Amino acid sequence: MSKIKLYGGGVIPVEMHRVSTVHTIRLIPIEDRLKAMDEAGNCSYNLKAEDVFIDMLTDSGFNAMSDEQAGAFHVADFSYAGGAGYYRMADKIREILGKEYFVPVHQGRACENMLARAFVKPGDLIPTNFHFCTFATQVQLAGGAVVEMLQDKGLVTGGDDGFKGDYDLDQLERFLSETPKERVPFVRIEAGTNLIGGQPISMDNINAVAEIAHRHGVRTLLDMSLAMDNIHFIKVRDEKRKDMTVREITRELADAADIIYFSGRKLGFARGGGICMNDRADFLNVRGYVSTFEGFPSFGGMSSAELEVMRVGFDDTMNEDVISQGPDYIEYMVEEFKKRGVPVVTPAGGLGCHLDADRFCAHLGKKEFRAAALAAAIYLISGVRGMERGLSSEKPEDSICPFELVRLAVPRRVYTLSHIMYVIDRVTWLYEHREMIGAMKWEDESKEEHSFIDFIRPVGDWREKLAAEYKKAGLE
Ligand SMILES: Cc1ncc(COP(=O)(O)O)c(C=O)c1O
Repeated sequence: MSKIKLYGGGVIPVEMHRVSTVHTIRLIPIEDRLKAMDEAGNCSYNLKAEDVFIDMLTDSGFNAMSDEQAGAFHVADFSYAGGAGYYRMADKIREILGKEYFVPVHQGRACENMLARAFVKPGDLIPTNFHFCTFATQVQLAGGAVVEMLQDKGLVTGGDDGFKGDYDLDQLERFLSETPKERVPFVRIEAGTNLIGGQPISMDNINAVAEIAHRHGVRTLLDMSLAMDNIHFIKVRDEKRKDMTVREITRELADAADIIYFSGRKLGFARGGGICMNDRADFLNVRGYVSTFEGFPSFGGMSSAELEVMRVGFDDTMNEDVISQGPDYIEYMVEEFKKRGVPVVTPAGGLGCHLDADRFCAHLGKKEFRAAALAAAIYLISGVRGMERGLSSEKPEDSICPFELVRLAVPRRVYTLSHIMYVIDRVTWLYEHREMIGAMKWEDESKEEHSFIDFIRPVGDWREKLAAEYKKAGLE
């Protein structure tokens, strides 16, 4: 995406595409939003999509397809075994990522399941810059644990460091010197880093991680689900790589990894995923689990049509105008929020604009579900659905989630600048009325373990009072 300097002052992101297929959305009245919230147990994941005006829950599977992707959907070969789409996608992986073997798997977390089954044994430890929730859970289910090695700069919501996803290299070196290598199936790199606000990791840091891991005889595992944002940030924030093409940066990134996995729901603008590598033994090991848990190894649990869409989506991703769209919108949101004093994660990362719920709802206690309450309040006053990233999606007792965030994801090519301006405006109104946001608690407090889709309840009638105040403002 390009940025346009306005004659009247200021800079705005501009879409480098025009729209040919549209999906109608509606903003239901605030009374109905309150009812919808009740039915959803105040958890934005449980809302019906048709009750949502602007859906910023996630980008996963929600990015818009290009015309060429839509066309590719219709040339799918649905053969159970050996369909042509598998071979075409495997060729695309060879061309772009330089990996010989490809295993299709239906989405990112399913790749994590395959990898954990294939490589992780009880007692294993997996270094990572930062955990991703489903990866950490898969590793735990296999009897292992992840060990986070993020530099301190990533553990704060403020600041302006362009690569907050960087590994602490000394910690990794020490860890690998002290831990028997049989207990470390791989060193994981997440590019970019979802749970700290979509923050990227630098190429120099990735290369250094790979050098350390390989020197200790350990494989590198790269999660490329959010790589299109990370590649864009390398291009615009890394002075040494500003003249490299997107393809060249992508290949340098891929070359640092022995095994790559990705959510094709993100990378590839489709609804799929996959794992690729150069080692044949590793390939056969992973592939062995696919026919039991996913589907046949040539479609991996996804529709063959999605394999075609994902292949064309990989080509789309090699275009800076395409991969800059999400980050440019997010940067616009972050800068506008900063001007209005609304606390956000800085600098702007990928995936979405992340509100800092700890600062937004500082009047609430640490255990009063600041992020969940904020996500519920945003939906109530605006019809915008964000994602809670905090207490209710991490286990508090062993929480490795250092802060409470609400993610306003920016699915690529889906929303226009007027949608984004509406979100900024309504969240700003809410910030100015933030004291009205009240606490939440689990509906069933007797349960020991909670899941992120469990019902939560407001403490008192703060939602009703907030709705009344919003109506009084004449914004409804
Ligand atoms: C870094 C990262 N890895 C893996 C996944 C899982 O991908 P999926 O949504 O396809 O299961 C996500 C999804 O948010 C992610 O951000």
